[in-house]
Amino acid sequence: MLARIDLALQQALDHVTATAIAPRLAQAARYAVFPGGGRLRPRLCCAVAAACGAEESPLTDAAAASIELIHCASLVHDDLPCFDDSPVRRGRPSVHCAFGEPTAVLVGDALIALAFETLAFASRSQPERLPYLVTNLALAIGLPAGLVAGQALEQEANVSLSRYQNAKTGALFSAATVAGALAAGCNAEPWRVLGSRLGEAYQVADDIRDVASAPADIGKPTGRDAELMRPNAVAELGLGGAIARLKLLVAEAQEAIPACPGRRMLQELIVDEAGGLLPKHLRFAA
Ligand code: IPE
Ligand code: IPE
Ligand code: MG
Ligand code: MG
Repeated sequence: MLARIDLALQQALDHVTATAIAPRLAQAARYAVFPGGGRLRPRLCCAVAAACGAEESPLTDAAAASIELIHCASLVHDDLPCFDDSPVRRGRPSVHCAFGEPTAVLVGDALIALAFETLAFASRSQPERLPYLVTNLALAIGLPAGLVAGQALEQEANVSLSRYQNAKTGALFSAATVAGALAAGCNAEPWRVLGSRLGEAYQVADDIRDVASAPADIGKPTGRDAELMRPNAVAELGLGGAIARLKLLVAEAQEAIPACPGRRMLQELIVDEAGGLLPKHLRFAA
C-alpha cells in the first residue's frame, strides 16, 4: 500500500515539475513530500477503500495522494516563523530553513493546487465522483472548520481544545476516510466520524509526544507547545488524563466504523497503529 501511495505522489510531482519554469520551487516541493513521514492519512484512505470492498484503483491512489499533498503543505506552512517557527521536520531542516521563507510559502501553495489537480486528473474515467471528492478536500482545508480554520484558532481567545484539534488535525483525517469511501463508490458520510475521532486521537498523541518524547525519536523539536502557548492535551488534562482521552478516542473510533466487509480488518489496523502512538516509556501505562 505504501509503495502505491509513494508512486502516486511521485507521479503527481513528476507531472508538474518536469517542465516547471521555477526549478528551485520544484525541488523544494519534492523535498516537502519525499522522504515522507508516517503517510498515515493516505494509508487510512486506502484502508477505508479496501474495507468498503474496493479493488486497488488509480482513483483511490490519487485520492490518498491528494490528502498527503495537503498534509505536506500544511506542515511546510506550520513550520514557518510566523506560525510554529520550527527549524526541523522529519529529522532534517524544514523547508523554509533549506530553501528560504518565500519559497516555503510558495511550496505550500503549489502543493495545495497539485492536490486538486491530482484528483481531477485521476477522475477522468469516473467524473461523476469528482465533485464530491473536490468538495471533501476543500472543506478539510479551509473555512468553516478545516485545517486552516484550526490553525487560525491560535489567533483567537477561549479556544476549546477539542474544537482546535478537530479542525487542525481531525478535518484532514475525516477527509481521508470520506475520500476512501468515495473512491470506492460507497456512501461516504457515515465514514466521517471515524476520521474525526482518529484525527483527534492522533493530535492528543502528538501533544503527548511534544511533552514526553525526545526530539531524535520524533524528528522534530519538543516542548514547542508550551513555548508557543498552544493548547495541548497534557497541559489541559495532565499526562494521565491525556492518555485516558487518547484511549477513549481510539475506542470511539472503533465503534464508529460503519458496517462494511472489512470492518474487522479496520478495527485490527486501528489497534495496531494506536499501539505505536505513545512514546515507548509510556506504552505500558496505556
Ligand atoms: C504531524 O503529522 C502534524 C500533526 C497533525 C500532529 P504527522 O505526525 O502525521 O507527520 P508526518 O507526515 O508523519 O511527518
Ligand atoms: C500541526 O499541529 C497541525 C497542522 C495543521 C500542520 P502541530 O503544530 O502540533 O504539529 P507539529 O507538532 O508541528 O508536527
Ligand atoms: Mg507545529
Ligand atoms: Mg505538535
